[in-house]
Amino acid sequence: MLLDMADGYVEQNRSLDKRKNLLRGRTVVNLFFENSTRTRTSFELAGKRLGADVINMQVSASSVQKGETLIDTAMTLNAMHLDVLVVRHPDSGAVKLLSEKVNCAVINGGDGSHEHPTQALLDALTIRRRKGRLSGLTVAICGDVLHSRVARSNIHLLNVMGARVRLVGPRTLLPSQVERMGVEVFHDMRAGLEDVDVVMMLRIQNERMRGNFIPSIREYFHFFGLDYDKLALAKPDAVIMHPGPMNRGVEIDSDVADDVERSLIREQVEMGVAVRMACLHALAGPLPNADGGA
Ligand code: NCD
Repeated sequence: MLLDMADGYVEQNRSLDKRKNLLRGRTVVNLFFENSTRTRTSFELAGKRLGADVINMQVSASSVQKGETLIDTAMTLNAMHLDVLVVRHPDSGAVKLLSEKVNCAVINGGDGSHEHPTQALLDALTIRRRKGRLSGLTVAICGDVLHSRVARSNIHLLNVMGARVRLVGPRTLLPSQVERMGVEVFHDMRAGLEDVDVVMMLRIQNERMRGNFIPSIREYFHFFGLDYDKLALAKPDAVIMHPGPMNRGVEIDSDVADDVERSLIREQVEMGVAVRMACLHALAGPLPNADGGA
């Protein structure tokens, strides 16, 4: 499965020779309609380390600003014989729509507040490597769940892998009827963190908010920011995660984020490259002109 394959790529990435030729001759395009640091860079590294040609399209500077539609952009790229298209878009569902119009494989690099599947995979890999398993663990996903594609993808994957998922946040930042997704809901951070194995913090996504969702940053940090006081309620060996970028002092205390024993935030970034290599391998590796060679 993808996580096992990614484990192998972690080793490759830690060695001096990081490059294999599995995807030689393949073209991977990163089509990003939204800013990204980690996701775009890690897909680029992943493609290059597998020997593919990787192109980054910074869409703010492209013809979409000249009025070209999403579909026209897709058709244009399609004509260039890509093998894999990685797409990030501010609208939920846009990546699926685009995938129906092109012949190549499409990977969702995050669509609106909907899904971010490779983030969930890298989070699962990070947890599994530290804890040895996912099944039976309790994971608290805390903060701005309403606007978070990371949360939605994690809820799906963690449930499939047999973990128990809790959502913790103020009523204004939790989607209505979210219990239907198979999670337990808490509006009190201390209650929500009690005895959990993993504390996954989410960024307050101001750019997706229309209106006021929190009274003030100070108050938000007081009730929902992760500090050592609240963390003390989790299991003694509970780990801390955050998909980045972090708002230090808003959803997470700086010292907690940098805690070398308990924070897995840097590991998450490392696992991001390995997981994306596994995804590219799974999608583009088996194509007919694969040389299969490592
Ligand atoms: C996340 C995203 O873009 O959805 N970041 C990421 O991919 N590492 C989370 C976020 O922006 O808060």
